[in-house]
Amino acid sequence: MKIAILGAGNMGLSFSKSFLKYELIKPEHLHLITRSETKISKIAEDFPKSKISTFEETQELDADLIIVAVKPQDFQHVAQNFKFTLKENQMVLSIMAGIKIEKIQKLLNHPLVVRAMPNSPTLLGMGITGYTAADGISFSQLINVERLLNSTGRSVYLENEDLLDGVTALSGSGPAYFYYIIDAMIKAGVEMGIEENLSQLFVKQTMLGAYHLINNSEKSLEELIKDVASKGGTTEAALKTFEDKNFKDILKSGILNAEKRAKELNG
Ligand SMILES: NC(=O)c1ccc[n+]([C@@H]2O[C@H](COP(=O)([O-])OP(=O)(O)OC[C@H]3O[C@@H](n4cnc5c(N)ncnc54)[C@H](OP(=O)(O)O)[C@@H]3O)[C@@H](O)[C@H]2O)c1
Repeated sequence: MKIAILGAGNMGLSFSKSFLKYELIKPEHLHLITRSETKISKIAEDFPKSKISTFEETQELDADLIIVAVKPQDFQHVAQNFKFTLKENQMVLSIMAGIKIEKIQKLLNHPLVVRAMPNSPTLLGMGITGYTAADGISFSQLINVERLLNSTGRSVYLENEDLLDGVTALSGSGPAYFYYIIDAMIKAGVEMGIEENLSQLFVKQTMLGAYHLINNSEKSLEELIKDVASKGGTTEAALKTFEDKNFKDILKSGILNAEKRAKELNG
């Protein structure tokens, strides 16, 4: 399979590395397309055997799959300035937040579109991607795309495209919420006099351990919380403050706002 990636940024390059790592494609069958000339030499250091070109100079796409990994806000400009026509058998895989299949089909004038929403742990092969496909994509084409997605972590097919905005808000943006909470915990540690690097160690190892407990325990989240929060104890004191300040509602409304933003991005 030959793959072209339009937008060699964080996600485009993460995907490329995963495909090559698992030998799903040959490096010479990868074409990376950048916006600016200046980025080419740096990318070429990491992908010495692959083709790299700027969008401006790209006249044709010799690829079975074109992955669109530019920001949603850049997509209209990209679509309107295509110098190439997509061939009938070429597939498009969009990982852009918010932009619906119908809009991609219309702007690219091409029916075969798969839309996916990955997240940043794809960099380590530990991502999760929700994806859905336009009518007309065959089962074997979909399996080929899924094989690629699985090299970046796990993937889940969703029948209903509308749910992808929820996936965007939940797992696409999710790592940032996690970092935000961890950052607050580390800062609390520092405020209590713990050195920053030690505070980081305590918090990160706590998150790792807690994650494994969630994954390996038969208990519900409520029961796991109860196990830590004894009556009148320290955890209960913290949880009471979170409840009093509606921390859970704040988090939930932030995530719903992310979903709303994903819907707006379709324009
Ligand atoms: N980051 C995430 O965690 C995440 C998660 C899920 C989905 N996504 C989606 O993935 C997409 C990419 O996100 P990202 O985080 O990888 O952003 P990014 O690092 O900014 O990458 C986007 C890349 O597209 C390039 N670009 C813009 N216009 C172009 C053009 N005309 N031709 C070729 N390249 C062009 C940009 O070039 P410049 O560097 O010159 O600006 C940039 O390198 C977005 O649509 C986002 O919604 C991201």
